[in-house]
Amino acid sequence: MQTNGNTTIIIGHRGAAGEAPENTLGSFGLAVEQGAEALELDIHESADGALIVCHDASVDRTTNGQGLISQMTQEELQQLDAGSWFSPHFAGEKLPVLEEVFALIPHNILINIEVKCAYSSRLEQRLLELLQQFDRLHNVIVSSFDHKILVRLKQAEPVLKIGLLYVANFQNHRKMAEATGVEVYSLHPQYRLLEAEDVQDAIQNGLYVYPYTINDEEDLRKALDAGVSGIITDYPGRLKALRDTR
Ligand code: G3P
Ligand code: CA
Repeated sequence: MQTNGNTTIIIGHRGAAGEAPENTLGSFGLAVEQGAEALELDIHESADGALIVCHDASVDRTTNGQGLISQMTQEELQQLDAGSWFSPHFAGEKLPVLEEVFALIPHNILINIEVKCAYSSRLEQRLLELLQQFDRLHNVIVSSFDHKILVRLKQAEPVLKIGLLYVANFQNHRKMAEATGVEVYSLHPQYRLLEAEDVQDAIQNGLYVYPYTINDEEDLRKALDAGVSGIITDYPGRLKALRDTR
């Protein structure tokens, strides 16, 4: 599905974060049910080297616990409730480890893993091991605002798809991709800085364009009109309804 053809793919942001507790298995399952063809998620490294799926560096906002992920073990982290803060309906959701997402989500769903934490060789090693173990090397995009992390990963595993996240003006996209010195698969711009002609220029130059995070109907329509390769949204169902009735 992630072609540069006419179809704009639906990428569920932290799953279906508008309707379920972000970055939980429940949220990922709901996004797929709603028609997402891809999922975006964030990872941090725990004190004992597990890849914990969570947006923030601390567990304070999205669980009933407190503390930094980097200072807690997987066992400690997985005892926390990551669903009740959103709604009692989701009580008992856990902070997943990446392998739990891989085990749950079918292989036809593209997974966009955003590396949130500072570069760590242990994280790189663990991520590449899991991608191999779960046969996900070919249907994952690893993205980060820290492009050096992506370059290191790409050099270690040349088949890996890497995506540049950025807030800067989209017009500099080609220079930015070239500056990495490695093959870049996709661009993940902040959607407010997006111009349709730049999108087409990037796509014609072999780059996929996946803007984040678009939720409003008018903004979704604008991005669809611009012909982006995919849209990262908290509301996969809303985007599907709009896209499929055009
Ligand atoms: O990957 C796109 C988007 O998720 C980046 O911003 O803060 O939601 O991780 P953030
Ligand atoms: Ca993210």
